[in-house]
Amino acid sequence: MSNSDKEALLVTGGAGFIGSNFIHYLLREHPDWRLVNLDKLTYAGNLESLAAVQHDPRYTFVHGDVADRELVDALFARYHFDLVAHLAAESHVDRSILDPAPFLETNVKGTQVLLEAARQYGVVKFLQVSTDEVYGSLGLADPPFTEESPLAPNSPYSASKAAADLLGRAYFVTFGVPVVTIRCGNNYGPYQHPEKFIPTVILNALEDKPVPVYGDGLNVRDWVHVEDHCRALDLALQKGQPGEVYNIGANNERTNLDTVKTILRLLGKPETLIKFVQDRPGHDRRYAINPAKLMAELGWQPQVSFDSGLAGTIEWYMAHRDWWERIISGEYLEYARRWYGGVVG
Ligand code: NAD
Ligand code: TYD
Repeated sequence: MSNSDKEALLVTGGAGFIGSNFIHYLLREHPDWRLVNLDKLTYAGNLESLAAVQHDPRYTFVHGDVADRELVDALFARYHFDLVAHLAAESHVDRSILDPAPFLETNVKGTQVLLEAARQYGVVKFLQVSTDEVYGSLGLADPPFTEESPLAPNSPYSASKAAADLLGRAYFVTFGVPVVTIRCGNNYGPYQHPEKFIPTVILNALEDKPVPVYGDGLNVRDWVHVEDHCRALDLALQKGQPGEVYNIGANNERTNLDTVKTILRLLGKPETLIKFVQDRPGHDRRYAINPAKLMAELGWQPQVSFDSGLAGTIEWYMAHRDWWERIISGEYLEYARRWYGGVVG
């Protein structure tokens, strides 16, 4: 445990989309917390997202792998973490279809290494940042996922996250590690990698390129603004009950086609840009989340409406061309070539 009166927090995957938003959020909301960000800087990690805080004395960046046991042990021994927020992951379903192996290494083994360190060194709270995708897919008439829904993952990504969640459960039950698991729906907002759906739509539309829509476009996602997710993560770190799972959803179910049309309308671009492309294998039809437990027990409420969040996200991408132009080269082009034979358009 930390021997100063300031909370010491390990954030893993802090150079990614949600992690970087969370680090900005925490430094703003908790002026007396000290943060260590452990990130491997895979293709998805980007220190430019954290440029504004890199010299903040409360923040330390460590370049490394969560599955590296020696390194993780050394960090726990040195910093005496009170809290762990574990976000590091391979996170993109399409990449897990191309190559599942890194998903097992990072999402499963990496989580076990962190849980083991938390067991050895002791922490006040270990936040396992998971996803609604562990519950699998809903039919259109099914009620939204609750924390009691069975785990039924369909992609190598969601299977690896479900495995990590179950390890968290086992470390709580067997060893008493105070694991809190939080499962959120699809996030959107600033700093999201251009491979994900909403940035793909915005960036292609901005360039007047075809917007790829998988299958019939009628798959449903339940969108949560990343700031609302960060608020929930903060609440769960402070007030979440060890051993419990909390779902996060903001009641924003939309078909992908609806989302594309809204973005095109906000950008003043024609719907003729929509290009239906081959479907993703094993494509989950619908996600929807019941967040009643999080609201009732931790007092969380979403604050960002989908319309205003989407408009703000579009503005952010328009104002941060430098950030995303550097990403959509090199490794990204190689991924796009493997996934759909090149950049659409
Ligand atoms: P992301 O892909 O944008 O970022 C992942 C980060 O983890 C990157 O900075 C990457 O460099 C780092 N990383 C990857 N492997 C690592 C390793 N072995 N060691 C250390 N760092 C490593 O992901 P994201 O969208 O920010 O998601 C963060 C977490 O939230 C993930 O656990 C994901 O499963 C979960 N989640 C995401 C969403 C979403 O819509 N994006 C929704 C619900 C839950
Ligand atoms: P994605 O952002 O990959 O998140 P997830 O698969 O974790 O839900 O995709 C969101 C939805 O958008 C999903 O139904 C797949 C679809 N999609 C497209 O139609 N076109 C695209 O180019 C991408 C990346 C996703």
